[in-house]
Amino acid sequence: MTIEMHPSMGLKDAIEQRRAARAFRKEAIPDAILQEIMRLGVRAPSGYNLQPWRFVVVREQENKDKLKACAFDQPQVGQAPVVLICCGDRRVANSDYIESIIQQGMDVGAVNDKYAEVMRGAIPSLFENKPNFDSMQVWTNRHTMLAVAHLMIVAKSFGVDSCPMEGFVASQVKEAFNIPKEVDVCCLLPLGYATEPFKQYGGRMELEQVYFGESYGKQLTL
Ligand SMILES: Cc1cc2nc3c(=O)[nH]c(=O)nc-3n(C[C@H](O)[C@H](O)[C@H](O)COP(=O)(O)O)c2cc1C
Repeated sequence: MTIEMHPSMGLKDAIEQRRAARAFRKEAIPDAILQEIMRLGVRAPSGYNLQPWRFVVVREQENKDKLKACAFDQPQVGQAPVVLICCGDRRVANSDYIESIIQQGMDVGAVNDKYAEVMRGAIPSLFENKPNFDSMQVWTNRHTMLAVAHLMIVAKSFGVDSCPMEGFVASQVKEAFNIPKEVDVCCLLPLGYATEPFKQYGGRMELEQVYFGESYGKQLTL
């Protein structure tokens, strides 16, 4: 079988045609496509490029059934060929981890000695003072969900459907999949090929209801 490694759909179509799929066909996602979705998904941005997202890739039926039991028996978890357990790792605040990210940046020539020193000062201070978030969990969740958004759009561009899910009991998922205590489960993401008829577009609020001009609540004129 020949696998087409270029997206089958442009960005605009992928965004407009993505739906939260509630039922999947049995058909597997070719490994090469799954790998490309995974690679592009983690091109998402993160503060200081700390990349706190981690994913458990669940493909065995027995494990999907176990996960489904932690997710109020939502059928898409058992049906989809792949389910990602999308996690945020709070240990990115540890100094040895920060050093590893500095080194990664240096290896590709994006971080010089001067910026490395800035990172060594600013990142621990960010996590200590938390000027714009309440807890490490909020910070890691913010970033992990950005990666999840990337994953869903990239997947759709390859014709692969998804369903972001918050309907699960995190403590049960953590115990069943050996997820460390410093790691939070942000969402589940079944991936695969949706059954027809596809879920209907649910509509969105008017732009003027969600975009404001210059100050909150003030009408934006374009
Ligand atoms: C964070 C998050 C959690 C969600 N949790 C669930 C869920 O547990 N089960 C489910 O079937 N859909 C879930 N959804 C899907 C939403 O219901 C869906 O995205 C919304 O109705 C809009 O539909 P659309 O994504 O098809 O445009 C979730 C979506 C998000 C973003």
